[in-house]
Amino acid sequence: MTFPAISLAEAAALLRDGQVCAFPTETVYGLGADATDDDAVLRIYETKGRPRFNPLIVHCADLAMARQVAVFDGTAELLGQFWPGPLTLVLPGRAGNRISDLVTAGLDTVGVRIPGHAMARDLITAVGRPLAAPSANPSGRLSPTTAGQVWTGFSGRVPVLDGGPCLAGVESTILAVDGARVVQLRAGALAREEIEAVLGRPVELPAADAAISAPGMLASHYAPRATLRLNAEAVRPGELLLGFGDVLGSARNLSASGDLREAARNLFAMLHDLDGKTDAIAVSPVPMTGLGEAINDRLSRAAAPR
Ligand code: TXA
Ligand code: MG
Repeated sequence: MTFPAISLAEAAALLRDGQVCAFPTETVYGLGADATDDDAVLRIYETKGRPRFNPLIVHCADLAMARQVAVFDGTAELLGQFWPGPLTLVLPGRAGNRISDLVTAGLDTVGVRIPGHAMARDLITAVGRPLAAPSANPSGRLSPTTAGQVWTGFSGRVPVLDGGPCLAGVESTILAVDGARVVQLRAGALAREEIEAVLGRPVELPAADAAISAPGMLASHYAPRATLRLNAEAVRPGELLLGFGDVLGSARNLSASGDLREAARNLFAMLHDLDGKTDAIAVSPVPMTGLGEAINDRLSRAAAPR
């Protein structure tokens, strides 16, 4: 896919001017806008065709910028050691942080993250303001892991800064930090086991407390056009198999060696690819350990009726 290349300086100029611009992160491509500019943030919703206002993640260049946006307690400071990286922390917003209400959807908390992709941090530094960014796909469609997918997804209407294919391939893990409590609102590219090793205690899952939730976590999401049959032990007539591990007859294989990191990196790109080739995709079972939690979460959303 060829599309007009833009430089980091051009992307930064667009964003400073209140326009949207897609940019690479290590998880998926983001559709960015100045998080302090209401009109710019509205353009994110318009561009994505998002039906309602979900809170957006605020991307910061470094800890100094993140501390201007949110209030960090001891637990949040501890978890900050995963930055730059695929972790979003939902923290109390700092008074006077100038973040648009359209970003927080009126909540008194804010989701912050320092992305692991150096080009993303350089862009934020060049803009000089934090960037609100959901995944750079039309609402309800698969998240893009290449610049070309962003370009075709929005039919060439959105400028995109190309930083190569995303290394992680699934979105960030989202944790709400509420005093001593740490609740995982979304499984993602940072495995829960790694977080628990640093915390020294289990991370809670949201079912335990409906009061803390990620409003954007709709059941049907990340939707391919094709139907998806999960935990398929064998491929049926008319289906193409998205394999995992040493399985026969896969049209694509997330990881032939059974490596969950490789599988996460390939997930959306292979779904995109198969979606263009068939109306029925079967998917091999993927274990629930490590990044398997995030992979199974995205697969079940992609398979949900809509
Ligand atoms: O990897 C990622 O996180 C990507 C890249 C671009 O950074 N971004 C991404 O954004 O996945 P999005 O908008 O698709 O997902 C944001 C999620 C939503 O489910 C939203 O509900 C939740 O974050 N969220 C953001 N701020 C929140 C808050 N204050 N409280 C609860 N949930 C929040
Ligand atoms: Mg998304």
